[in-house]
Amino acid sequence: MASELLYGGDYNPEQYPPEVWAEDVRLMKAARVNTVTVGVFSWSSLEPSEGVFTFDWLDDVLKLLHANGIGVILATPTASPPPWFSLAHPEALPVTADGLRLLHGSRDTYNPAAEAYRHAARRIATEMGRRYGTHPALRMWHVHNEYGTVSFGPVVDAEFRLWLERKYGSLLALNDVWNTAFWSQRYGQWTEIFAPQATQYLGNPAQLLDFKRFAAELLLAAFTDQADILRSLSSGIPVTTNFMLPSWLHYDQWAFAAAEDLVSIDDYPSEPGVEGHAQAAFSGDLARSLAGNRPWLLMEQATNLIYRRDAMLVRSTQDMIRSSLQYIARGSLGALFFQWRAPRTGAEVFHSSMVPHSGEDTDQFRGTARLGELLAELSELAPDPGEAGPVAENRVAIVWYPEAWWAAETRGLPRADLNYAALVHQVHRALWLAGTGVDFVHPDHDLSGYDVVLLPLAIPLSSAQAGAFEDYVNAGGRLVAWYFSGTTDENFSVVPAGYGGRLARVLGIRVQMVHPVDGDLTLSDGSTATRWSEHLDLRGAETVAGYSGGVLDGKPAVTRHEFGDGVAHYISTQLDDDALRTHVVGILADAGITGQAGDGLEILHLRVGEARFTIVLNHTDTAGSVTVHGNDLVSGRSHAGPTEVAAGAYLVVRS
Ligand code: GLA
Repeated sequence: MASELLYGGDYNPEQYPPEVWAEDVRLMKAARVNTVTVGVFSWSSLEPSEGVFTFDWLDDVLKLLHANGIGVILATPTASPPPWFSLAHPEALPVTADGLRLLHGSRDTYNPAAEAYRHAARRIATEMGRRYGTHPALRMWHVHNEYGTVSFGPVVDAEFRLWLERKYGSLLALNDVWNTAFWSQRYGQWTEIFAPQATQYLGNPAQLLDFKRFAAELLLAAFTDQADILRSLSSGIPVTTNFMLPSWLHYDQWAFAAAEDLVSIDDYPSEPGVEGHAQAAFSGDLARSLAGNRPWLLMEQATNLIYRRDAMLVRSTQDMIRSSLQYIARGSLGALFFQWRAPRTGAEVFHSSMVPHSGEDTDQFRGTARLGELLAELSELAPDPGEAGPVAENRVAIVWYPEAWWAAETRGLPRADLNYAALVHQVHRALWLAGTGVDFVHPDHDLSGYDVVLLPLAIPLSSAQAGAFEDYVNAGGRLVAWYFSGTTDENFSVVPAGYGGRLARVLGIRVQMVHPVDGDLTLSDGSTATRWSEHLDLRGAETVAGYSGGVLDGKPAVTRHEFGDGVAHYISTQLDDDALRTHVVGILADAGITGQAGDGLEILHLRVGEARFTIVLNHTDTAGSVTVHGNDLVSGRSHAGPTEVAAGAYLVVRS
């Protein structure tokens, strides 16, 4: 067993004089902080002019932290190149889709395709690797921060063309796949092709999809550039980069996860109460799945004020504690925050922190200390660093597929507001409220370990992927596919003989036509739906619920098809939350899967080595009852059967 859960956050001593560092360490010890992330965004403090390095302050900080038993996650600062860099290398500034070149003044002001940027990033990573690769305080390398910058412009165009040449080999092949005969787009030379910047009217969706793939690979290459250097300069120190979840998919998180030694995420739920905890559950399940069901790390969350739309969301210490337990119960190595101490000024000056502007004598800091104390009490939940997992055993999986997200972002679709992420969230939320544990999978993964696989809005599918879904059902699996899935091949060419063609055989249907709708729909079983409907022909499937009223009156809306040893279900409309839950819960029940608790009373099962824990979190404002057996690590009580869990309370039971 590892001795402790990681607790702490982003620490920016470069913003404060050394007197404050000593105070920081005192407070960190008071709050039982054992890990801080240093270096994120500190490039201009580490390399104030080209090739001139000022590591002395960082040497002192690491020494101070180490002397006080605080471990360091050392970040390369490459998410924010310094002003001198931007001035010297204007071609390395990002260009928006409208062709506007952004200037320095915020962060993430770089173009990942520019060699000057990549070179400068490798150089600072090399310097840091050489200087700190064997430092005793070093626990982990944290490359960059939240990769996600997409740029356009000449530098990107040149790289995109090379990528296309590698993919297609010839312009003949590219013209064919992109169907450039449409609107006279036939390309006669590679230099005629540009990244899909702003266009007069709709652009080519096949081009956009390829650009998204290219941009994702570019970011991954920028990461592996640095990861390779850091690994070569330190021995056995894990390398990670923090994903911004769940709202960013400018890259392929699965591919990144495969290139990391440890998955880490940042998560900022945007809703109060139970809904916010549903969001945290989504992110934690996704992180665990990206990590291959092995330990991962919550790199950032916010204490009491969370940035969102117009007004920050306020959350209580209890919510912060239960959220932290939600991540840990899903395999996180601990709970880290953005940020340790609030900045004096600067961007995000009013972002919450573990030490607020108003200081130590605050409920805020007492909350920080309370969580530190709790995590110290729960050190049994910390896996051995060599522990391979798995940490959970779920029978249900949701397909999470970046290319499906990107395809739903193309323009010219039957509805402009098709929202991949929203549907995936809706499906996850329904399962979470029903108390059913769930993993996420990529469509290329082996699905055979799951009894039920849910496939929301996967417009593009390759024939191999469609074949794998068929094989899965044929062998006894239960597939639930949502509207418009399987409509195109992987290059956004519509599969002939009806929409949904890729899945037509396994689903036992043909989609004649899609019918976007304004307003509400009612189905024959009383379900309510909205926005989308489809004209289906049955080709072996049976109707579970039909459309009621409107042009599709009496036609199938939800279908079920026995195929081989399994069953394939199709939901051709945007069911409302309750209806979606009812349908999905029914399908799970047919597979013998019933949830535990639910509706905000959450039960999680965590494996740590040979030990098993049941973590019960009551996110609601009423008391609930659960059946648990074992000793509660928090209260010291032992439970052997039905147990009341007060509103807002939590149990961590070793079974
Ligand atoms: C992200 C970043 C942090 C900070 C927070 C604000 O997660 O990594 O630097 O900007 O968002 O919530």
